[in-house]
Amino acid sequence: MFPGIEERGKMRARNKYRRPTTFRCNAGSRLGLSTVVLGLIGFLAVLHLLSLLRDKALPDEETQLLIDQYPYFQELVEVEEEVFRIPPPRKRSARAMKRKPKRPTTLLEEFLDETSQLRHIFFPDMKTAVDPLKEVGNGSYYYYPGRIWLDTDGKPIQAHGGGILHDKNSRTYYWYGEYKDGPTYHAHKKGSARVDIIGVGCYSSRDLWAWKFEGIVLTAEETDETHDLYKFNVLERPKVIYNDKTGKYVMWMHIDDANYTKASVGVAVSDYPTGPFNYLYSKQPHGFDSRDMTLFKDEDGVAYLVYSSEDNTDLHIGPLTNDYLDVTSVMGRVLAGQHREAPALFKYQGTYYMITSGCSGWAPNEALAHAAESIMGPWETIGNPCMGGNKIFRQTTFFSQSTFVIPLPGLPGSFIFMADRWNPAELRDSRYVWLPLIVGGAADHPLEHSFGFPLWSRVSIYWHKRWRLPFK
Ligand code: DGJ
Repeated sequence: MFPGIEERGKMRARNKYRRPTTFRCNAGSRLGLSTVVLGLIGFLAVLHLLSLLRDKALPDEETQLLIDQYPYFQELVEVEEEVFRIPPPRKRSARAMKRKPKRPTTLLEEFLDETSQLRHIFFPDMKTAVDPLKEVGNGSYYYYPGRIWLDTDGKPIQAHGGGILHDKNSRTYYWYGEYKDGPTYHAHKKGSARVDIIGVGCYSSRDLWAWKFEGIVLTAEETDETHDLYKFNVLERPKVIYNDKTGKYVMWMHIDDANYTKASVGVAVSDYPTGPFNYLYSKQPHGFDSRDMTLFKDEDGVAYLVYSSEDNTDLHIGPLTNDYLDVTSVMGRVLAGQHREAPALFKYQGTYYMITSGCSGWAPNEALAHAAESIMGPWETIGNPCMGGNKIFRQTTFFSQSTFVIPLPGLPGSFIFMADRWNPAELRDSRYVWLPLIVGGAADHPLEHSFGFPLWSRVSIYWHKRWRLPFK
C-alpha cells in the first residue's frame, strides 16, 4: 500500500511544488484554461528538472552513520498494524454495578489507568529492556519504542523531553533531556504530577543507539529558593545548539515554578558539549509567557526559539541574537488559536516542517504536522503524520508526545521522530518512542487555492514494534 523508495522518489518530485499558484481561470474560456494547464505543466517540468539538479548538487554531508538505502530502507516504510484485545472488565459486586453500570473501556483509558491489565503493553518491564551491551551481532541497533532503554552502564536513560546535538567537532551525537530519576508526587491536590528538578542529563553516542552517560550537565539548586533551578521549580525540554562564531554550546530550556505560572525560558552555556553548563538567566521572551519550547538552527547559522505562548493558544517564533544567548525583538505568531505544544522542527529541501501535540498535560493526544516556506510563517497544518499501529495509536501519537526530530544526513528525506511516552504515575519510568519519519508523497490536505495540486509533501511517522536504521 505504501510506496517503495523509487516510487517515493517519483512522488516527491511530483509533489514538491509547494508555492501557491495565483493563476486565475476564466471558466468560460477553453483556450484560456488549456493555456493555463499547458503553462502549469511546463512550469512543473522546469521545477522538476531544477529539483533533480538540486538533489544532485546536495553536498554529501559528513556523517559517521554509514547508511544503506537498499533493501533495509523498505522496512522503515512498511505499515505495521497493532491488534489489542481489551480484557473484559474485572468482576464487580452487584452493588457496585448498580452504583456505576459497566461501560466498555477505551485503550486510552487503559493507558491512563495505572492498574490496567494492559499496562505491560505500554510500559514493558525490565526483562525486555534494550541493553546495548547485551545486544551484540544481529540483535544490535534495533529500536523498540516504549521499552526501557539502558545506557552503556546498564542504567535506564534519563533524558526526557530531550533533543539531540550532532557535534561536528567530536563527530558525536549528544542527547540532552530532563533527568527525572526521583520520586513522582503532586505539589497540590489538583497540580499535575512532578519530579523535583535534578538537572539535565547528557548522553553521547556515535550510532544513535548505544548511549554513554556523560553526567548531569546542568544541576538543580538545592538551597537557594530564589534560584530558577531551585529543586521545587520546573525545568523541561532542554535543547542545545552549537554557536560556530563563539565556539560555545548554548542550552535553552523551559523554566517554571511548580504551578507553571513563571512561564519563562532559561539559558545556559558551556565550552564543551558535556558541560558543565553555566546557567545565565531566565526571561519571558518578547515579554510573553513561554512554556513548551524548542530551538532550531538553520543552515545559515541563524537559530530560532519556538515556544507555546499566550496560555498555549499560539506558538511564537523568533530568531536568537548572533551569540544565541537571547532573543531579538523579531517575533511571529504562528498556528494562532490552535493550542499546540511540544514543537519539534526540521527542514528538508528548503521547506520547514514542524510536529506538534495538543495540550493535555502528560496524557497523549493527536500529533499534527505543519509546513512553511519561511520559518517565520505562515505555517500550514498538513495533517496527522502517524501511520500504522491502529486508530487509537494514530490518535495518540503512539501514546507519546513529540520532542525532537533528528536529521539523518545519509538518508535524505528520512529522519528519526523522538517522542516521550509519559508515565505520570512514575515519571522517571517514562519511555522513549523513536520512529522513522519520512518526507515524501502527497500531503493529506491539498489546499483549495492549489487546484488540487498538493503544495506540500506528506510527513509520515511509521509505527514499528522493532526497527533499525539501514546500517551498512
Ligand atoms: C505537557 C508538556 O508538553 C510537558 O513538557 C509537561 O509540561 C507536561 N505538559 C506537564 O503536565
